[in-house]
Amino acid sequence: MKIRFLGHACFEVVIKGKNILFDPFISPNEKAKHIDINTLKPDYILISHGHEDHVADVLNIAQSCNAKLVSNFEIISWFGNKGHENGHPMNHGGKWTFDFGSVKYVNAVHSSALPDGSYGGNPGGFVITSDEGNFYFAGDTALTYDMKLIGNTTKLDFAVLPIGDNFTMDVDDAIIAAEFIKCDNILGVHYDTFGFIEINKSEAKEKFKKAGKTLHLLEIGETTEL
Ligand code: NI
Ligand code: MN
Repeated sequence: MKIRFLGHACFEVVIKGKNILFDPFISPNEKAKHIDINTLKPDYILISHGHEDHVADVLNIAQSCNAKLVSNFEIISWFGNKGHENGHPMNHGGKWTFDFGSVKYVNAVHSSALPDGSYGGNPGGFVITSDEGNFYFAGDTALTYDMKLIGNTTKLDFAVLPIGDNFTMDVDDAIIAAEFIKCDNILGVHYDTFGFIEINKSEAKEKFKKAGKTLHLLEIGETTEL
């Protein structure tokens, strides 16, 4: 599966010809100035939770191409009130089959207010299963035993985990998470964007390697196959 990192916790994947964008936070990201959001034309935008650093560009991108938003009920309703009606509301533990594959909304241990202070429901992550492969995007979360349920039920090809510490798991907890979900192929996100989440990248990769796993850290705009 082709995956392109767009900075912070934002990335896009293409499955069955459908472009799926996750947690767009590009135009306010100083490190992603070379990415033009007008070039992004996703079919779907999946939103893990309501924080600004995950939803900042949702409306602009979605309205330019009528992307379908997928998130929890509260976030989909909020964007509906902002004028973007094309949304699919979910809640934790539920899954839905779209034309590219199945999406399950799963637990994250975090918070989820929307940018104007509105209640954003509870934060989540996504487990995507498809004919072209399976992956887990954890969103923003602490390490949690709930991740074991994912490892016990879904054979993952890769997972996208936050590693920046302070607001989420750090590298050491992300390695334990990778064990819980039984996945050795991890794309690290949610690091280096702000001062609170700066990491030592070579040390992080080395720690994963010692644990028998691979940590992929992409340049912003870089595409890889996972
Ligand atoms: Ni957050
Ligand atoms: Mn965040």
